Amino acid sequence: MASENANHIPIYPAPTDFGDQTFRSALVVITNACNLECKHCFVFRKDTPNQPRDKMTDDCMLAQLEVLRDKHEIKSMLFMGGEPMIKSDLVLRGMSLFESSSIVTNGTYGIPSVPGHLVTVSLDGPREANDAIRGIGVFDRVKAAIFDRDPDDGTLVILQMAITRQNAPHLEEFVEVVEDWPVDGIAFTFYVPSREEESELSWHDLKERDEVVHRLIALKGKHPQIKANVGALKLLLSDRCLEATGQEGENCRIKKTLPLYIGEGGQFERTFCCYGNNVDCSRCGAYGVFNSAWHQQMESRES
Ligand SMILES: C[S@@+](CC[C@H](N)C(=O)[O-])C[C@H]1O[C@@H](n2cnc3c(N)ncnc32)[C@H](O)[C@@H]1O
Ligand code: SF4
Ligand code: SF4
Repeated sequence: MASENANHIPIYPAPTDFGDQTFRSALVVITNACNLECKHCFVFRKDTPNQPRDKMTDDCMLAQLEVLRDKHEIKSMLFMGGEPMIKSDLVLRGMSLFESSSIVTNGTYGIPSVPGHLVTVSLDGPREANDAIRGIGVFDRVKAAIFDRDPDDGTLVILQMAITRQNAPHLEEFVEVVEDWPVDGIAFTFYVPSREEESELSWHDLKERDEVVHRLIALKGKHPQIKANVGALKLLLSDRCLEATGQEGENCRIKKTLPLYIGEGGQFERTFCCYGNNVDCSRCGAYGVFNSAWHQQMESRES
């Protein structure tokens, strides 16, 4: 709740103190409400702050984001949820606060028109495989939203499939199905399991994941719409991946991003990394981690 100064201008509580570090990039869980219950979702794991729902008011959140932006010199912000489009007005207001803003959405509320910005739309396979993870009817709703938007509105829209052990067999079919859709690219990321997780989603031994990585490298060769560097994908292979992640995340460059989750008191809370708490870094498949490590390796070779 905001108090007011003598001129009746609201004063919001200061955000949580995250130290004095500079964070060029950050992500914010703009709402921890969601209309889907995807099987693989790290946001709603028990060790990650996700209760209570939406305790912070919109104005308070924006005021705190501005303070954190100035303090940590945040240039780029990823608006995430939960489902960010449940609070589309808040997202649109928040995006204007940063030099560079992007959104990742499940696409079921339509695709926002945000010229000059990136909107990543999640789909986890062709219809049947996607709906087994994201819920019945979701594939068709997202497809309709993609085809309903104006493809010339200046918004950069890419699809993203999170590859798990469960949907990996449908990789090639997914690309075949979506390759002619009016989007700017198709991205892939691999599953980030929790520690000690043994499930139908996770690979117990990363050597088993290698076969899928090789298939993705082959697909990339045939489909230029796939947004991936082969060099980064090769770093995902089991004999290299710890170079990018470390056993406990010690090599991970994504840890330079400030993750802003909503904690119990309705205050921002920082998690271990963007993927929440209790993550198994040694089996992490977050594409951004490997892409960033690959770029760093290229830069150090050139210098
Ligand atoms: C947590 S969701 C939030 C935004 C929005 N609700 C959506 O589904 O796009 C952001 C992205 O993380 C991906 N994701 C969720 N759980 C994951 C996991 N355990 N490992 C890798 N990616 C995951 C989702 O598929 C989605 O592309
Ligand atoms: S739509 Fe996004 S936030 Fe919601 S459950 Fe699925 S992955 Fe998680
Ligand atoms: S889980 Fe992945 S993204 Fe998170 S710290 Fe570990 S290696 Fe980095």
